[in-house]
Amino acid sequence: MLIVNTVKALQEALQPYRSANKKIGLVPTMGNLHQGHLQLVKTAKQHADVIVVTLFVNPTQFGANEDLDSYPRTFQVDCDKLEALSTDILFAPTTDEMYPRGGDNTSHVHVPNITNVLCGASRPGHFDGVTTIVSKLFNITRADVAVFGEKDYQQLAVIRRMVEDLNIPISIIGEPIVREADGLAMSSRNGYLSKEQRVLAPQLHEVLRDIHQSISKGDDDFKTLQNTATTELSKLGFKPDYLHIYHRDNLRPAKKGDKELVIVAAAYLGSTRLIDNLHVHCT
Ligand code: PAF
Repeated sequence: MLIVNTVKALQEALQPYRSANKKIGLVPTMGNLHQGHLQLVKTAKQHADVIVVTLFVNPTQFGANEDLDSYPRTFQVDCDKLEALSTDILFAPTTDEMYPRGGDNTSHVHVPNITNVLCGASRPGHFDGVTTIVSKLFNITRADVAVFGEKDYQQLAVIRRMVEDLNIPISIIGEPIVREADGLAMSSRNGYLSKEQRVLAPQLHEVLRDIHQSISKGDDDFKTLQNTATTELSKLGFKPDYLHIYHRDNLRPAKKGDKELVIVAAAYLGSTRLIDNLHVHCT
């Protein structure tokens, strides 16, 4: 695996592939790779000839009181995991390389409306940071295809919207959530959980499954389902941030008769914010 740290080196490394009409696949990450990330790489390999994984803990998507400084950085272990998958190129730039003028002085990409709800409401500015860095990575690599996890469901929807609005010539693939054996969605932040919190954490998924089951049985009183589940999460020891049943495509509250729904939730265990979601196809 070739490891490059500069935009110039990455573009030079990609040039021969581009000249040979090879398809470029991109997997953007912030490192601390788990099975979920590795699945993104495996999927990218099915759709492209050369795979670029990026590893950059992007400061512009973290709020002032968030975990930028403590975000787990495990570079060598990440490299080993990517090597084992025969990843072609790892792009691991410094912050100065990505934001030579500083994050605040860099042009940014803003996707309106769908960034105001859910994680966007509780993390102001977060999605501007995500869409800015992701569009920079799209422009730098000129990748044909990029793969993102469905765990960050809103992030994926925002990126799809950006690509559509700005006519960016790239295909976006969403990869289903990879879960631990007990149902907890894999996340780099799971490592923050204490032993006791880790035992409790899968209950978030359980609560979403209960809603899924109720909707599948025909319950379409979405407001009551949301309220009951939010109360249940609090009783279990979570501090719910949000729990909503939304239309899957536009991230608007689900209405009776909607067929493709997504149950989305974020909840704190101590200071760790967990997110999860579950699709529901109503027949
Ligand atoms: O999902 C992530 O890890 C990040 O938000 C991303 C897409 C790599 C952008 O920094």
